[in-house]
This record gives sequence, C-alpha cells and structure tokens, in this order.
Amino acid sequence: MKVAVSFLSHKESLEETIKKIDETSADYIHCDMMDGIFVPDKTQTVADYKKLFKNINKKLDVHMMCCSPNKYVKEFAKMSNVEYLTLHYESHRRPIDVINMIKHTPLKVGIAINPETKVSHIVPLLKSIDQVLVMSVKPGKGGQEFIEDILYKIETLKELREENNYNYIISVDGGINDKTVKLVKEAGADMVVSGSYIVKSDDYEKQINSLR
Ligand code: DX5
Ligand code: ZN
Repeated sequence: MKVAVSFLSHKESLEETIKKIDETSADYIHCDMMDGIFVPDKTQTVADYKKLFKNINKKLDVHMMCCSPNKYVKEFAKMSNVEYLTLHYESHRRPIDVINMIKHTPLKVGIAINPETKVSHIVPLLKSIDQVLVMSVKPGKGGQEFIEDILYKIETLKELREENNYNYIISVDGGINDKTVKLVKEAGADMVVSGSYIVKSDDYEKQINSLR
C-alpha cells in the first residue's frame, strides 16, 4: 500500500512537519489546497507552497479543493516536485477541460469525488486520468471519521480499470488509520492519504509502516 501523508492537521509548525514527513518512507506528501469557497476553510496559496517545498525531496500529491481549479494549473506545473495534480469533479462545470489542461503539462492528473458523488458521473473521464481520489470524509477538514459507505466505489473503480485497461491508481482520503486501512486494502485501493493519524503522533515512521 502506498502512503501519502497530509500535513493539514499539523501540531508542530508547518515547516517542521513537512521536514519531518520528508525524512520518512512516505511515498508522497499530500498537499491539500482549499480556497474558502469550495470548502469553508482556506489554506496556503500556490506561491506559499512553492516556497515551502523548495528544499523538499519528496514528490507531491496535490489535492485542490478549490472552485476554478484551472486557475492554479500553470503555477503548479512550474513546481518541480509535483507529481499528481487533482481537482474535484464537483468543482468545475467541465472537469474534462481542466483535465486536458493538466495533460498539456508534465504533471499527472487526478479526479477527486466527494462521498456522495457516484462513480457513474466520472466514468467518461476515467480513460484520461492517472488517479481517482475517493473521499472517505466530507472534504475540508482533517480528523473526521471514515465513511464506510464509500468502500463499494473502490471495488467498482477496480473492476472498471480491469475491464477497460485503464491506468489510474485508486487513492482514498480521509479518516485513515491502522483499522480503516484494512477495509480500504481489502476493497482494492492502491494508495491511502493519512493526516491526523500520522502528524499528530510522536513517531511518523511507525504510523506509516502500520498502514503498508
Ligand atoms: C480532507 C483532506 C484530507 C485530510 C486527511 O479534506 O482532503 O487530506 O487532511 O486527514 P485525516 O487523515 O486526518 O482525515
Ligand atoms: Zn486531501
């Protein structure tokens, strides 16, 4: 199981937390960006992230919880450590336009779906993307409880990938700990995003290893 670590619920300073994640075996740093419109909270801007990740070695898995995600593509594409750039299906009238925009950059593209959004909505997009980010909490805050009702979506996405030879990875975001990871693993996910369970602990590496 691949592990992406979210620093949203950091207890030390942002800089210190990111540096500590960078020293672990995590596969990615999951970077949540919120605009205060798509979700109530607002985080750092792309310019802030550019500075924060300047001397970081890990690759970034960027999760945009923002309306008009197209506005940020160019700037993220200029950052050398971004691997995945993910927009929410619910955040744009024509997600395919933003997907195509990202595909014209060196970045990989992801589509995130809220807990209440059905997989059927994103079926036409699946052939074009590199990651599906299945939200297992309502987007916007760390530390929420895992919603088990989303598990069937992981199974459906896995079946669709096999039937059609698609290439996306299935990642699950929200409420992941050593217990919920088992459910997600059984359903067939390739990656989990975990925040509080790791960054609120005193031993990041131990927590990450318990999710593998
Ligand atoms: C929620 C964010 C998540 C969140 C995960 O809106 O997208 O990435 O930080 O944090 P935990 O693991 O605390 O649910
Ligand atoms: Zn996230």
